[in-house]
Amino acid sequence: MDIHTEKIIILDFGSQYTQLIARRVREAKVFCEIHPFDKGLDGLLPPFGVPAPRGAGRGGGEGFNPKGIILSGGPSSVYDKGAPTLPKKIFDMGIPILGICYGMQLTAKLLGGKVERSREREYGAAILEIDDEAGIFYGLDSGKIKFGEREGFLGAGLIDVWMSHGDKVVGLPPGFKATAKSENALNCAMADVSRKIYGVQFHPEVAHTPQGGKIINNFLFNICGCAPSWTMDAFIETAVADIRAKVGNGKVVCGISGGVDSAVAAVLVHKAIGDNLTCIFVDNGVLRKGEADKVYSTLTKSFKMNIRHVNASGRFLKKLKGVTDPERKRKTIGAEFVHVFESEARKIKGVSFLAQGTLYPDVIESVSHKGPSAMIKSHHNVGGLLKKMRMKLVEPLRELFKDEVRALGRALLMPDDIIDRQPFPGPGLAIRIIGEVTAGRCEILREADAIVLEEIKAAGLYNKIWQSFAVLLPIKTVGVMGDARTYENVIAVRAVNSTDGMTADWVRLPYEALARISTRIINEVRGVNRVVYDISSKPPSTIEWE
Ligand code: XMP
Repeated sequence: MDIHTEKIIILDFGSQYTQLIARRVREAKVFCEIHPFDKGLDGLLPPFGVPAPRGAGRGGGEGFNPKGIILSGGPSSVYDKGAPTLPKKIFDMGIPILGICYGMQLTAKLLGGKVERSREREYGAAILEIDDEAGIFYGLDSGKIKFGEREGFLGAGLIDVWMSHGDKVVGLPPGFKATAKSENALNCAMADVSRKIYGVQFHPEVAHTPQGGKIINNFLFNICGCAPSWTMDAFIETAVADIRAKVGNGKVVCGISGGVDSAVAAVLVHKAIGDNLTCIFVDNGVLRKGEADKVYSTLTKSFKMNIRHVNASGRFLKKLKGVTDPERKRKTIGAEFVHVFESEARKIKGVSFLAQGTLYPDVIESVSHKGPSAMIKSHHNVGGLLKKMRMKLVEPLRELFKDEVRALGRALLMPDDIIDRQPFPGPGLAIRIIGEVTAGRCEILREADAIVLEEIKAAGLYNKIWQSFAVLLPIKTVGVMGDARTYENVIAVRAVNSTDGMTADWVRLPYEALARISTRIINEVRGVNRVVYDISSKPPSTIEWE
């Protein structure tokens, strides 16, 4: 079954929410891809006649015939000099289009409507009054709103929405009618039903628009005629077939880092080609407590995979000696990883493919931001290795978002304690030990970190928190234990919530949990006599301390 027959294209105009649109579409089990508004349209849209280029996550490289197009929001005004735009013929192809925010303003402008600059950006919650309960607004639970003092608005057809826009549409293009209004604007949504072109001024993709998912689903199912065929089982079937077709009887090697992505990628490749896959698990000495053993034993015992476990902690620590600069730590660990991996891979005869757990956010060409991925992946830069060993890449997760990788892991029957782990940076504890990394410091941090995680789990919070961990500070402070003065290390505890690592807020951990964490670390970890809690958000702070 080809799960890519139902595709939606999202053209990105730089909104911070573009990836959320993709998430909502995929939650509806419809496959979609994000493309920059100004690149590759010729290959994506059928009437332009050129087949899509191969690779780059386009579902096997065949022509990309979308069943619908979503135009994202963006920070520009349609009146800005050089404002992002589209060829007008996109609206004449008979493909349904939904413009969101900037996408709607651009649609209005290109099709002959009137868009006006607002003096101030409208930002925040608003109540929408729906005038046409068909089309994208079909079947919503109206009236489920937080009624303000806006009596004139009480009645059926009201929903909560999230606004964030500067311009507004003051004159509709010919053929369109207004389908919703708010207190501030008459044309909050518009539709040309005969051409299947829709626009919404608000953001249906964000959580603050509680019925936004339904609005997007209406577009996908009722207007584009998509079927919900993007399921994990269907994905596995296709991915396994793709891997087999690409690799044939060739041998594949896969680096296991201890993280979720590489483990899931390895299990998927193993399902496709069995023992022709060899995994190399490089223990770099800066993993969390028990992590290496857990991943290794699950993959070898439950999945019967072929894994070479290389304990390289000594080598890594030697290279890290005297290194205090955070970026140098990253580069040192990255280079050493490639070294160890390469020498191990060379021992396996006849390997021609390298499998990697690259995710979709790493390959999206985003107008707005590159995401943390550009930096994150630098430490696993295996480009040189591929060239030297003449290997080809296999990246079975490159169409998936992080939570889809977790769903895939579950569908592959991997245990929750591997799948649901919080993200962990490649350079590991090394960037949580401020200053020089030594074996002794790693030991202290590993123990303290394990206590933080145990207590967060005991409080039932682990799966609700994006990341929680301990940091070892390079200072000593005075304490008193029994009758004696101590002069020991400080541990900082960090817990943050985030959706993508780009922004984060510190978690208001219950005092009881903080108290247990502090008491246990000071009592149980030798060399620590003080624990502090980090109450900084990102920005301006980062999640990691280095
Ligand atoms: P920051 O500290 O930049 O972190 O707010 C954002 C997210 O990225 C992770 N991170 C890394 N992951 N290698 C990685 O694999 C790195 O060098 C790296 N630095 C930060 C961090 O844990 C958080 O999830």
